Amino acid sequence: MADVVLQTKGGSGRIVIDDDWPGYSLDLFSYPAHYAGDLQCVVVPHGVIMDRTERLARDIMDDLGDHDIVVLCVLKGGYQFCADLVDKIKALSCNSDRTIPMRVHFIRLKSYLNDQSTEDLHILGAEDLSFLAGKNVLIVEGIIGTGKTLKALLKHVEAFQPKMIKVAGLLVKRVPRNITSLPDYVGFEIPNRFVVGYALDYNEYFRDLNHICVISDSGKMKYKI
Ligand code: HPA
Ligand code: MG
Repeated sequence: MADVVLQTKGGSGRIVIDDDWPGYSLDLFSYPAHYAGDLQCVVVPHGVIMDRTERLARDIMDDLGDHDIVVLCVLKGGYQFCADLVDKIKALSCNSDRTIPMRVHFIRLKSYLNDQSTEDLHILGAEDLSFLAGKNVLIVEGIIGTGKTLKALLKHVEAFQPKMIKVAGLLVKRVPRNITSLPDYVGFEIPNRFVVGYALDYNEYFRDLNHICVISDSGKMKYKI
């Protein structure tokens, strides 16, 4: 059992992946041959990501479905989750009489070198977010580690006085943290291990992998800067 318990502010909870879960063998799935030997196991298969994202889209529609929203996609790690989440929200809009006009804006955060978080956080593309004033904002992140990045981003976005800010994170790592910065919508709660795939990188590698996987020690050595 995990010794750190996460609490989210809303939504329908999350799928919890325990610390002692070994993951799926890579042999059970297909993945790019250029990553053979670089990965240890599959933590979340692509199909499961898609199914969970569909449910998150429904939760978001239930909460925000009667207002226009501005989606703030946090690059680069959040691009795939954001694209799929927006697709699922669009599908809900097309197939019911509830529909939300959505705008998508992209910002870029950078704070990792190899598998370590660095102190200096860079926010690019967020200089003038004055168009957020009075809007419902959905921040979409691929992964939340310590939550420090998200906290800094929330502070930055709040300064532009949106009507409401919600956060969707596909993955939240189980690390000791200040719980005030957790997302409202969480796909999966995962052990505190470095994961890659589905747009999450290790020094820019592995974004072209569909599943979320744990990198192997030899993979870390191979792509280390
Ligand atoms: N993988 C990729 N990027 C990250 C991670 C991770 O586990 N944690 C924070 N940024
Ligand atoms: Mg990264």
